[in-house]
This record gives sequence, structure tokens and C-alpha cells, in this order.
Amino acid sequence: MIPAASGGGPLRVLVTGGAGFLGSHLCERLLEQGHDVLCVDNFYTSTRRNIIPLLEHPNFELKRHDVTFPLYVEVDRIYNMACPASPIHYQRDPVQTTKTSVHGAINMLGLAKRTGARILQASTSEVYGDPDIHPQPESYWGNVNPIGIRSCYDEGKRCAETLFFDYWRQHKLPIKVARIFNTYGPRMLPNDGRVVSNFIVQALEGRDITIYGDGSQTRSFCYVDDLVEGLMRLMESSEEVTGPVNLGNPGEFSIKQLAEKVIELTGSASKIVYKPLPQDDPTQRKPDISQAKEKLGWEPKVVLEEGLPKTISFFKAL
Ligand SMILES: NC(=O)c1ccc[n+]([C@@H]2O[C@H](COP(=O)([O-])OP(=O)(O)OC[C@H]3O[C@@H](n4cnc5c(N)ncnc54)[C@H](O)[C@@H]3O)[C@@H](O)[C@H]2O)c1
Repeated sequence: MIPAASGGGPLRVLVTGGAGFLGSHLCERLLEQGHDVLCVDNFYTSTRRNIIPLLEHPNFELKRHDVTFPLYVEVDRIYNMACPASPIHYQRDPVQTTKTSVHGAINMLGLAKRTGARILQASTSEVYGDPDIHPQPESYWGNVNPIGIRSCYDEGKRCAETLFFDYWRQHKLPIKVARIFNTYGPRMLPNDGRVVSNFIVQALEGRDITIYGDGSQTRSFCYVDDLVEGLMRLMESSEEVTGPVNLGNPGEFSIKQLAEKVIELTGSASKIVYKPLPQDDPTQRKPDISQAKEKLGWEPKVVLEEGLPKTISFFKAL
């Protein structure tokens, strides 16, 4: 059932993980569009700093809550963003990570079923594991280790996708699944081990820039504004568009190229040092975004040369 409020008027939108990096940008954009935003977060990997400017907004509400427990609220849209996203954080308490993905999905799908809300899952390119096809289309089933140290995240997200599609088939829920590829921008945490924030912080502090492996592994980097636009387009796409839809920037860079770009843009004297590659680290990752282009009319607009300086300014101010 599509809520009556979707006829152009303001919606009541729940954003789980709304105080996080992506969630806080999403809350901001939803408020700009005139919606009522309920941000739910247990602050496991975020700080109130991300949403302090929003607290004064009359249409913004914050609720401290852990999504592994049921939530009873009335909403029209649910963006399920809650989950630690960087290896340092999701490996700190792997059991809780799986619980957040799986119990969190069950609780939010239950809420969507009760309220008739449309629900979007923030899934991840990690569902492809260490892919043996390149770039990865949504039809690729992935190459994932079910028992490794990354499995709590990868398999938790895969199980969440399964739950979304079972609720869709069994209960006819209007679902949307976004497979998000590496995204960067202001409000990333400085010490969470993600490659863009790591490199910028190391460069700004004049420390060695650490590359794991030989730096030839590639990643694609999507600027946060582009990603949020993609998520919102997917949420408001027609009901037959369930996804999964890849959202990311197909521009491919090696980790070494990224390190060199960061050094150049920060004007740092940092040197690059190499360390052994961690277990199950994928060698190549690049989205095939033809589905997003065709179904959402979406593609990223912000190039690395534009997004990196904004991110560097944020970390400088921090
Ligand atoms: N940033 C990326 O590059 C990227 C890539 C792929 C997927 N994603 C997904 O997007 C979502 C947001 O990622 P992010 O980069 O903003 O990470 P983040 O860590 O900044 O945000 C996650 C938020 O979820 C909250 N959270 C964690 N466990 C919770 C729980 N049990 N109950 C309530 N809140 C909880 C955290 O406190 C945090 O505010 C995640 O689901 C992540 O898996 C992100």
C-alpha cells in the first residue's frame, strides 16, 4: 500500500542510522524537501555532532534506539541505514553486527508491514565479496567467504537482502534495495580505517600513508551528495522497481592513485608505505550502474577532484 501522503505532500520518514555519515546527509536532504524526519540511532559508530545542526529544525526528531529491538512508530518511508560500515567497527563486535543487519531488517520490515510504509535497505557492494567478474552487475551472485572475519558484515547484509525479498514476495511489501559502493565525504569518522578518511588524516598529520598490499587493488569512490540523490530517487521510483540497484561511481582508481591524489591535494610531505593485505580484501571493485541509469535516471556527477577537496576541508576543520 502506498501512503496517501506520497501524492507530493510531506512524508513521515524514518532514517535508521540517521546520525551516521550517510544517514545524517540523508536526513538533511529530506528536511530540505519539507519532510518530517525521525532519526533513530544508538550512536554505536556516530556522534551527535553529525546531527546537532538538525536538532533545532521543527521537522526533525531524534530517538536513541537500537534497531535490534522492535520499534513502534507511524511512518510512510523507512530508510534502513543502521549498521556499522567499516571493518574496524563491524569486526569489533561481529555478533552484534550480524544482529544489527538481520534483527534490524526483521524489525524494520515488521514495522513497514504494520504501517504500509515503503522501505529501503542500505545494502552494500560487499555482497559481491571478492568478485570474479568485473564490473559487478546486480545479477552477479558474489564470491563471499561465509566464515571469515568480514562475514558478519557481508553475510549479514546478504541475509537482510533475502529478508527484504521474502517480505516482498510473501507480504507484498514495497521494498527497495540499494547496493552501495564506497562512498566518501564530510562526516566520515577520522579513525575508522576507511581508505579515503585514512589517507586524508595521515596526509594532514604528515604521517606515512599506509597502503595494504601493493596498492594495485582498485576501488570506485562516490561522493556522498551523489549517493544520497541515488537513494532518494530509488525510494521514490515506481513500485515495480525493487532493486537491487548498484549505486556508486564507476570511475575506477587504484589505491595507490588515490594516495598520490590525496598527497597532491593536501600538499603533504607524507610518504607511502606498504603493509600486508588483510584476509578477504577484494582486489577489484567497480559498480555496473546501467540499472540505476535506466531505472532511476541517476549517475554520479561529482568527480574525485571536486569531492576530495570538500572532504579534506572537513577533516582540516576537525
Ligand atoms: N559509506 C559507505 O561507503 C557504505 C558502503 C556500502 C554500504 N553502506 C551502508 O550504508 C549504511 C550507512 O553507512 P555509513 O557509512 O553512514 O556508516 P556509519 O557507521 O557512519 O553509520 C551507521 C549508523 O548506524 C548506527 N547504528 C549501528 N548499529 C545500530 C543499531 N543496532 N541500532 C541503531 N543504530 C545503529 C551507527 O551509530 C551509525 O550512526 C550502512 O548500513 C552501511 O552498511 C555504506
